[in-house]
Amino acid sequence: MNKNVVVIGTHWGDEGKGKIVDLLTEKVAAVVRFQGGHNAGHTLVVEGVTTVLHLIPSGILRQGVRCLIGNGVVLSIPDLFAEIDKLEATGLAVTERLVVSFGCPLIMPYHIALDACRERRRGNQKIGTTGRGIGPAYEDKVARRGLRVQDLFNEQSLTFKLEELLDYHNFVLEKYFGSKAISVAECLAASAAYADRLKPLVGDVVAELGSLKAAGAKILFEGAQGALLDIDHGTYPFVTSSNTTAGAISSGCGVGPLDLDYILGITKAYTTRVGEGPFPTELLNETGQYLADKGHEFGSTTGRPRRCGWFDGYALKRVSQLNSLSAICLTKMDVLDGLDEISICVDYDHSVAEDPRPVYEVVPGWQETTAGVRTLAGLPANARDYLAKIEAVCGIPIDFVSTGPDREDTIVLKEIF
Ligand code: GDP
Ligand code: IMO
Ligand code: MG
Repeated sequence: MNKNVVVIGTHWGDEGKGKIVDLLTEKVAAVVRFQGGHNAGHTLVVEGVTTVLHLIPSGILRQGVRCLIGNGVVLSIPDLFAEIDKLEATGLAVTERLVVSFGCPLIMPYHIALDACRERRRGNQKIGTTGRGIGPAYEDKVARRGLRVQDLFNEQSLTFKLEELLDYHNFVLEKYFGSKAISVAECLAASAAYADRLKPLVGDVVAELGSLKAAGAKILFEGAQGALLDIDHGTYPFVTSSNTTAGAISSGCGVGPLDLDYILGITKAYTTRVGEGPFPTELLNETGQYLADKGHEFGSTTGRPRRCGWFDGYALKRVSQLNSLSAICLTKMDVLDGLDEISICVDYDHSVAEDPRPVYEVVPGWQETTAGVRTLAGLPANARDYLAKIEAVCGIPIDFVSTGPDREDTIVLKEIF
């Protein structure tokens, strides 16, 4: 039986990862985030109550599940505590189950300022980032000058490091971008001020994972963003600044590749993207608008409208290779209800121009509602054919189908634990 299960987005994020992680937490001891930061927005709906998570792993709604934030996650401490406070105000005990790695790089006020300045400077070439300082924080990490969680607990050396960092970043902010300088005091307020509160949450996530393995525990690894936003394999430069593919798990929290037993790609029954960048199957017509309206396609982090298009099977085949996908979960099936015809991108035609042109196969839609259907037999025949077609085109089994935002609105075709 599988012990270590990975949930990862297959396209440009917002595929429904949070919902599926929450569903699968019933049988696990821990959920681990290993990359990204609070650019993520993962929506969980349980008995009609909606919770949106940005940094806290999507295991938090299940009593007893440990939630680990690995060293690969860039951490904004004020945002972490804002999220904890919001959850605890609903009566949920968060801190006793949360562990934050001492190695997480910190997102600081100058990262947020740099993110904004860069985007402004890029003009119509902007990436459309979430404005959370994610990219600049990863840059500092790779440049080997960034602050990490462990730096918070020695205020004297923290102040010294901050002075050096600000010397450098303020030069760029003021002289290159003509923007305002950031002060040491602002940075201390956004970090050291939380040190006492953070201290009990800080731990050695690598050691925790080692103990869980020794105890034979089941663990879920929760990806953020999607494979096409991967810094190496995505639609560069319109990507995020971390590796979003399964390979990032080893470096981002501390389990080796041979320990991963089952890798589930979360895929929307159509495709969406927030922010700028190529999107070959994008629908700039009333069908795209239909999907956006029916699917309530607005970003969970920034509230921006999501661009919508047809299912991209060509991308999925590639992403399956990148991640060693065991299977996929097809989400938001219900959003396709009512369409006369549905197109599936089965390939890209690279011969015509610089931009690949999608090659479509058109299949009949269905008029019945699939919302909330929980068995395969309960789906209309054309919806079942759509699933079979996707499996055939992509060569990947569909082990789960999601038919609504609620945890229970799911067709489970395979028991993975
Ligand atoms: P994530 O970032 O991958 O966790 O996805 P988001 O939470 O950002 O976006 C997915 C959105 O779709 C959320 O609003 C979910 O509540 C919703 N959702 C998830 N699965 C389904 C589904 O099967 N049907 C419908 N209609 N909505 C869904
Ligand atoms: P979840 O985990 C969708 C996108 C941004 C932008 C690009 C770079 O909810 O699926 P960044 O702020 O990371 O530097 O922005 O990546 N992006 C996401 N899009 N879902 C997300 O997360 C995203 N996180 C970042 O819109 O195009
Ligand atoms: Mg999201």
